[in-house]
Amino acid sequence: MKLLITGGCGFMGSNFIRYAAAAYPTYEICNLDALTYAGNPENLRDMEHNARYMFVHGRIEDEEAVEKIFKEFKPDAVINYAAETHVDRSIMDPAAFLRTEVLGTYTLLEAVRRHGTARYIQISTDEVYGSIEHGTFSEDAPFLPNSPYSAAKAGGDHLCRAYWQTYHTPVIVTHSCNYYGPYHYPEKIIPLFITNLLEEKNIPLYGDGTHVREWIYTEDHCRAIDVLLHEGAIGEAYNIGTGYEIANIDLAKNILALLGKNEKMIEPVLDRPGHDWRYALNSSKLRSLGWKPRVSFDEGLSRTVEWFRTHEQWWKPLKSGTYLEYYHKQYTARTSAER
Ligand code: DAU
Repeated sequence: MKLLITGGCGFMGSNFIRYAAAAYPTYEICNLDALTYAGNPENLRDMEHNARYMFVHGRIEDEEAVEKIFKEFKPDAVINYAAETHVDRSIMDPAAFLRTEVLGTYTLLEAVRRHGTARYIQISTDEVYGSIEHGTFSEDAPFLPNSPYSAAKAGGDHLCRAYWQTYHTPVIVTHSCNYYGPYHYPEKIIPLFITNLLEEKNIPLYGDGTHVREWIYTEDHCRAIDVLLHEGAIGEAYNIGTGYEIANIDLAKNILALLGKNEKMIEPVLDRPGHDWRYALNSSKLRSLGWKPRVSFDEGLSRTVEWFRTHEQWWKPLKSGTYLEYYHKQYTARTSAER
């Protein structure tokens, strides 16, 4: 099988490429990645000499670049991991999110339609459903996005549905809970907190820290995509969740404990505007295909902490940029002013 993976140099895409190359040694993989700030060729250094892997530098909304790959590589399936993914960045600058999530998805869907590609998987998020106080979201829940990020993702997902309804383009859309693990960009809560603590810096907790997220270890997410690639029903959406929920404050305490640090290192900062309080998914549709998570949260978090502890050379250069420093200084300054 020939797989076109877009955004393969990011956290999720690179983990999936490594997973697929090991699980299916005969598959050929083409990785189309724009190498934005979050796309890091270091994530796939170990794939460079694999004869069944090729890298193409380009954007998914670049029609010419996409067409060239479809003509020359002729993928049997496309998995679209390419996305701007950080909610805080979308609040500061939504434009890039709309370009990638909406225009990019459209460009890929058009190519899939023109070339009669057998399968297109859209990697999306639980955030399109908005926040839920009690219970869980099923796949038929309405979309109620609350951030420019989730609104842009919802736009791409709606296009997928429309292409299936209108042209019978063979799409599958996934809505995943929060994922974590090795190679996670250190702007998201888990890698940010781990790396801050490794640098003896405080960890900025938004608001009162009671916000709840459901978590999946990256390997379990890869296995879910594997199942959907081979057995998912075309035209359907699937939630990907573990049922493991934790409030941010408790997550912070777990990370502090794993690193032997004091809880005084938690620094309350101003809340994220439009901050969704809780996400939770009903994943029984995916589980009916035989998938279930294998890595418990305790195990996954320990593995992740250990990976970051032993891979400073990977994350240190990413944290030297000014963005994160600037961003968290803004929050801290505003919070102190309010006190
Ligand atoms: O739910 C899936 C989504 O999870 C993905 O679709 C997104 O691409 C991904 O970014 C993630 O979104 P979140 O906003 O949930 O992830 P983030 O790590 O930014 O924040 C997780 C929680 O932690 C959220 O309640 C905000 C809080 N937080 C985050 C950061 C970065 C803090 O308290 N402090 C922080 O410094």
